[in-house]
Amino acid sequence: MNLRFGIIGYGFMGHEHMTLLSDFDGIDVIAICDREADQMDDAPEGVAKYTDAADLLARDDIDVVIISANNNQHLKLVKMAAAAKKNIICEKPVALSIPDLEEMEKAVAENGVKFTVHQQRRFDPDYRTMKNVFDSDELGDIYTVQTGLYGYNGNMHDWHIYPEQGGGMMYDWGVHLIDQMLYMIPGKITSVFADVRNVINEQVDDYFKVLLMFENGITAEVELGTYFLKDEDKWFERHWFMGGNKGSAYVDGFHPEGKIVHTAHLLQNAGHGRTMTAAGPTRSFGPPSEGLILSKDIEIAQTTHRMYFENYVKAYRGEEDFLVKIPEVKRVLKVMDAARLSAKTRKSVDFEA
Ligand SMILES: NC(=O)c1ccc[n+]([C@@H]2O[C@H](COP(=O)([O-])OP(=O)(O)OC[C@H]3O[C@@H](n4cnc5c(N)ncnc54)[C@H](O)[C@@H]3O)[C@@H](O)[C@H]2O)c1
Repeated sequence: MNLRFGIIGYGFMGHEHMTLLSDFDGIDVIAICDREADQMDDAPEGVAKYTDAADLLARDDIDVVIISANNNQHLKLVKMAAAAKKNIICEKPVALSIPDLEEMEKAVAENGVKFTVHQQRRFDPDYRTMKNVFDSDELGDIYTVQTGLYGYNGNMHDWHIYPEQGGGMMYDWGVHLIDQMLYMIPGKITSVFADVRNVINEQVDDYFKVLLMFENGITAEVELGTYFLKDEDKWFERHWFMGGNKGSAYVDGFHPEGKIVHTAHLLQNAGHGRTMTAAGPTRSFGPPSEGLILSKDIEIAQTTHRMYFENYVKAYRGEEDFLVKIPEVKRVLKVMDAARLSAKTRKSVDFEA
């Protein structure tokens, strides 16, 4: 039998969930709720509509609720759903703080319901492409993994401009970008160093750079700017770069393209005399000689966000683990706390050391 879903919060993301799940094998969305009735005007026929989450949760024929309301509503709604014995998928950021998440965990445990978070960007093709390269030995020893997302508007929209509603880019894209790094790179993070700023926005962050120093020697860099201008093709998109001692890989764009780059040979480190290159006697930089740089198209991962719900249905039936586990989302929140502290003190913050 299909799982019967309810969606609480029928704005942008509630609609996205409805669109994806409207033809999804194993899931039927039977009820939706939004405190603003007109948000549900375009709901498909036959789906029950509520303006009060308590009324949707009072139904005894709903197996799972997706909570896709504003960030500051998550704590209240997760607790209500747990008390109503509904299994829960909460949107990211699951909570605005670690204590809030711990309150949720308690409510979920007391009521014996399943609880996971919609961090579906683990299936983004650009990210998965880079994760596949990371998991191969194509680049040798990897020393840096960098991800960036840049924009030109500066401003954020709707409730995202209010701190008390869980606004700001760290709670928005930051959660995904940090989660992607933590899901890729194994081992402890020894320190976090970050710059978090309000460049254009008065109250909430709209730029951050976070450096994660891993115990295994890798440094991960996550950068996002809502006002980060370059007149370069495909600049206002996603970017990934990964460097190892046997080559590099990069991927750009929401519809990603990228390359793996090697060199035919390395400069011999003779230690005496002069080394002649295409640019004359030189040291480390300058244009490479013809044929030195070898690049090939990267194989783009064929992943989609539907895979998140494919995993959900199987995990619900006990056939596999839920992809997104609560200790993992808690670790992301801890990194975000450390990043904010680092930005405030302008010092690095010890982490898991
Ligand atoms: N996973 C992703 O890729 C992704 C993308 C966008 C947004 N989100 C998350 O989804 C959530 C919603 O974001 P959005 O962009 O859809 O916002 P939105 O403002 O478009 O929609 C939120 C809706 O929730 C409703 N709402 C608020 N409180 C409610 C309550 N107590 N009961 C019922 N309805 C309530 C609002 O009226 C609004 O219609 C946020 O947590 C956001 O971080 C996730």
